[in-house]
Amino acid sequence: MSAPWHIGVIGGSGLAAGIGLDDAQEIDVSSPFGAPSAPVTTGTLAGVRFTFLPRHGPGHRTPPALVNYRANIDVLKRCGVTDVIALSAIGSLNEAMKPGHFVAVDQFIDRTSSRENSFFEAGIVAHVSMADPVCPRLSAGLADAAEGEGGMVHRSGCYLAMEGPQFSTRAESRMYRTWGADVIGMTAMPEARLAREAELPYGLLAMVTDYDSWREGEAVSVEDVLAVMHRNVALAHRVVRRFAASLPAQRSASPIDTALDNAVMTAPAQRD
Ligand code: ADE
Repeated sequence: MSAPWHIGVIGGSGLAAGIGLDDAQEIDVSSPFGAPSAPVTTGTLAGVRFTFLPRHGPGHRTPPALVNYRANIDVLKRCGVTDVIALSAIGSLNEAMKPGHFVAVDQFIDRTSSRENSFFEAGIVAHVSMADPVCPRLSAGLADAAEGEGGMVHRSGCYLAMEGPQFSTRAESRMYRTWGADVIGMTAMPEARLAREAELPYGLLAMVTDYDSWREGEAVSVEDVLAVMHRNVALAHRVVRRFAASLPAQRSASPIDTALDNAVMTAPAQRD
């Protein structure tokens, strides 16, 4: 079955002011999971409906561990979003992924510890597959758009999600490299898990802002992260607009649209 696209965008550090939507309108959407990070902004890009949510709220006031990831995904779902793209700053654990490069993340190692990471609570038990945590067509579309705008793009990368808010010690940073992680950040988990539970395909285009702390004599700072993000805000806007323009007129179904079909353990008669 095909239908129109409606892309939800979760913007990270440096993108709180939006992504330059046409005909933008702010809407306050409430959720039974609590307050989302901010009102959403809905509008269009290249004729496609987009709804934007700044992950850390206006003025970057919500730290990674206090982002209400459930409410954020829930309000996007309530807005009728069909797919979610996330834009984030990341540290690099891989020499080849240099500051200023894009990474279309396709795997995660989740080391977060204090966050609500499921919509399912006592009473209904569900286990969705996270084997392939990102949507390949969103990921490829984002990578193509970033390349089309002249960006250096890595089409695959494993993201280590850390709890923060402090950056990693050198020993942690070096250990994550031995685990096969390529990049590190504080926010894509549980966001990607919750998107899957909400049957929303999720793509993550992240920008490398620093080399974290594994290199002798170097250590990440907020100054580094913000400098790279601020330099690249206009590029990020162009990438999203190009991605919008590249979407086929109609959206064909994704297997992720029915991710819960074989995930619920609770007997049908017990689900209320
Ligand atoms: N976001 C950007 N750079 C980071 C780093 N080095 N560690 C965690 N989150 C980050």
